[in-house]
Amino acid sequence: DGATFSPAVVVGTGYGAAVTALRLGAAGVPTLMLEMGQLWDKPGPDGNVFCTMLSPDQRSMWFRTRTEAPLATFLWLDVINRDITPYAGVLDRVHFPNMDVYVGRGVGGGSLVNGGMAVTPLRSSFADILPGVDADEMYRVYFPRANAGLGVNDVDPAWFETADCYRYARVARESARVAGYGTAFVPNVYDFGYMAREDAGLVPKSALNSEVIYGNNHGKRSLDRSYLPAALGTGHITIQTLTEVRSIERQSGGGYLLRARQIDPYGSVVADREIGCRYLFLGAGSLGTTELLLRARETGALPDLSPEIGQRWGNNGNIMTARANHVWQPTGTVQSGMPALGIDHRADPANPVFAEIAPLPAGFETWVNLYLAITRTVERGNFAYNPATGRAELRWGPEQSQPSVASAKALFDRINAANGTVYRYDLFGHNKAFADDFCYHPLGGVVLGRATDGYGRVRGYPNLYVTDGSLIPGWVGVNPFVTITALAERNIERVIAEDVLR
Ligand code: FDA
Repeated sequence: DGATFSPAVVVGTGYGAAVTALRLGAAGVPTLMLEMGQLWDKPGPDGNVFCTMLSPDQRSMWFRTRTEAPLATFLWLDVINRDITPYAGVLDRVHFPNMDVYVGRGVGGGSLVNGGMAVTPLRSSFADILPGVDADEMYRVYFPRANAGLGVNDVDPAWFETADCYRYARVARESARVAGYGTAFVPNVYDFGYMAREDAGLVPKSALNSEVIYGNNHGKRSLDRSYLPAALGTGHITIQTLTEVRSIERQSGGGYLLRARQIDPYGSVVADREIGCRYLFLGAGSLGTTELLLRARETGALPDLSPEIGQRWGNNGNIMTARANHVWQPTGTVQSGMPALGIDHRADPANPVFAEIAPLPAGFETWVNLYLAITRTVERGNFAYNPATGRAELRWGPEQSQPSVASAKALFDRINAANGTVYRYDLFGHNKAFADDFCYHPLGGVVLGRATDGYGRVRGYPNLYVTDGSLIPGWVGVNPFVTITALAERNIERVIAEDVLR
């Protein structure tokens, strides 16, 4: 079949993409969204849309023969991962030397698999990383707009104090307090009212059924329950799934031509498609958007793209670690999959750390506290295009994770010393106490104000825009999706006013 045309195309359906589609639709602009993953709305044979973390099946991961969970082992035993049939599952782990990156695949992108923690960054951190953006306006207009659009809510502190499913967080809070560290509640997009009803046995369990990284069957306001239905409700948005954009070129007379491949859920090619558009918005995430633009520059399709494409990538200082508590400090057999508390040591100028207290929902008592620490780091990687594979390859040396390990270690050494506790070495493979070779928070590659103008317009190419986490230069100091959403709200408002409705 020949090329189809849509006035606007949005690549991806994650945070930046969903915001962009809603605002384009509300402005009356017919928009096609292209998403390589599936729409997750059909129950499998077990009656559930998603599989659970404790018995993962083909739905768990993106075309794998075996699952690749972040906690590889327990007591050094290979008891966590399972053999699966290759399928368009919801979580991908993209491998690079020394740094793997977890990303969501499906309508809703990372919102389908993430912990839902919805954190607005410290104003000082935001102003540091994006000095060209009016911070006043962001905190007055766009952060509130993003929080409202995402459906962010807070845990009821009284319920938190008594709920069995947050015993793990209370134990971690106490061991932090003994060492002199404070904690803060963390807002979430998971409906805490639903969670309380799960706890009371009134509704089907999701957060309390070890569901998180392979999707939540209930309770979570992922983008397919917030921005995307609102976008579809404008009547101007179409979403085409299982369709991966592979190349971008310019069309004579303006606009862009995309070549995309559509597959079935088992990976067989259904069709190769060509789609023309006038306005092209890239929301394929830090890895996806950077790769599309790097490929376009290096193959000569868009030769005038900036040398800044592929630069200034970071892992948001992500380090995972775990501690063994004393036997009289059980962390609970049922742990909410949605974190609600963090060790908030962001204000320390010497070693700022924000450590989310993560669940280890094994279904049995482990006495473990698990943490995802967000450390401050100036280390950045960059991408090189490999013409043989057509892929963008991350350059990240093992030494680049070491400042983050040192930062996390300083904080948790103090907690262990004050409590007489130790690290767990059995969870991350290679006898490591600090997982420094994977991340959940890829950021950068097409940085705002460098590879693009101050509103995400790609330099050198009119009507080509970037809307996602690749705009943020490698670090934001907290979990990133609220910042990605707010920045997308800011940028699309300007682009619609100045470029689209002009
Ligand atoms: P995002 O990655 O969300 O979306 C990109 C979409 O584009 C995907 O759906 C992808 O399939 C699609 N795509 C890519 N290439 C394509 C192509 N060529 N053609 C078509 N489609 C393509 N953050 C946070 O704030 N709080 C938290 O609690 C967590 N927890 C967390 C846990 C886990 C396990 C993960 C993996 C991640 C988190 N995160 C998080 C991170 C958060 O999910 C992440 O920062 C955002 O999803 C990034 O949003 P983007 O809009 O940049 O892209």
